[in-house]
Amino acid sequence: MKKMIGFLTALVLLVFSLGHTAQAASYQVQSGDTLWKIASKHNLTVDQLVNHNRLNSTLLHIGQTLDVSGQADTYEVKWGDTFYSISLKLGVSMPQLKAANPQIENFHHIYPGQVLNVPYSGMIHMGPSQKKVIALTFDDGPEDLYTPQILDILQEKNVKATFFVLGQQVKAFPGMLKRIQAEGHAIGNHTWDHPDVTTLTEEQLIQTVQSTGEEIEKVLGYQTNLFRPPYGSINDQQIHALNRLGYRSIAWTIDTLDWDRTPADEILYKVEVGKVPGGIVLMHNFKNPGKLDGAVEALPQMIDSLRAQGYEFVTVPELLGE
Ligand code: NI
Repeated sequence: MKKMIGFLTALVLLVFSLGHTAQAASYQVQSGDTLWKIASKHNLTVDQLVNHNRLNSTLLHIGQTLDVSGQADTYEVKWGDTFYSISLKLGVSMPQLKAANPQIENFHHIYPGQVLNVPYSGMIHMGPSQKKVIALTFDDGPEDLYTPQILDILQEKNVKATFFVLGQQVKAFPGMLKRIQAEGHAIGNHTWDHPDVTTLTEEQLIQTVQSTGEEIEKVLGYQTNLFRPPYGSINDQQIHALNRLGYRSIAWTIDTLDWDRTPADEILYKVEVGKVPGGIVLMHNFKNPGKLDGAVEALPQMIDSLRAQGYEFVTVPELLGE
């Protein structure tokens, strides 16, 4: 009997792993490849390729392995399923599930065997790559040293950006958050005090996100549905837990590495080589005198240069079509 169970387990594992490998098509990056070339070769868009492979950069290296199997996942409705139970099972919010299934007129009348589209539920590294738009994002504020300088530049250049704020900073600088909002920028949640959330329990994660959301609401009267984990560090289970609360987890496509006295020309170079339609640029606004001087110096030139190349600046909600 024991042998039989062992055999059956082995068989099940084998079938499972075969099924899995059959789905995951991988591709090794070769000399001369670009994201665009690889995506079109496999009938994907650049943003599908980037998001599916969790790329925090558009720069590829030779020999890098990419999953090119696409992500047109579907779900077959089972007996006893409700729209709500399916959203829990898939780790997405009801609005996300509805948006992915415009063909369904009445969500109370789904039936076993019906096939639903599964919305992308992982970390968002970039937005749709069809339009020449780009989103500037600033993390860790608000504060009163760099934030006003950045806001002045954005206002002068008429650029709307997205600020991922910390609850403790909102509490200390509510007026600066109001200014960010008043000048038309979008706001995202970046936890209360910048922990690596993979070290937290699900309860602790929800606590740091919700307390920050409430602090934002105290100042602005509304919460945000955007979340960016500190260091970009978060596991799938945590992303799904936040999805169920209505949050979308946002990473970046271009890391300027602006946070430690990086000279302006290095920041400009990183954006120039990493830029991509649909891209999300990571920058910072924290209070540490001198550290972000290069970033502030680079910002006007970065905006002018991207504009000259035909890029339009959007907030993260605009990028995602919200
Ligand atoms: Ni941060």
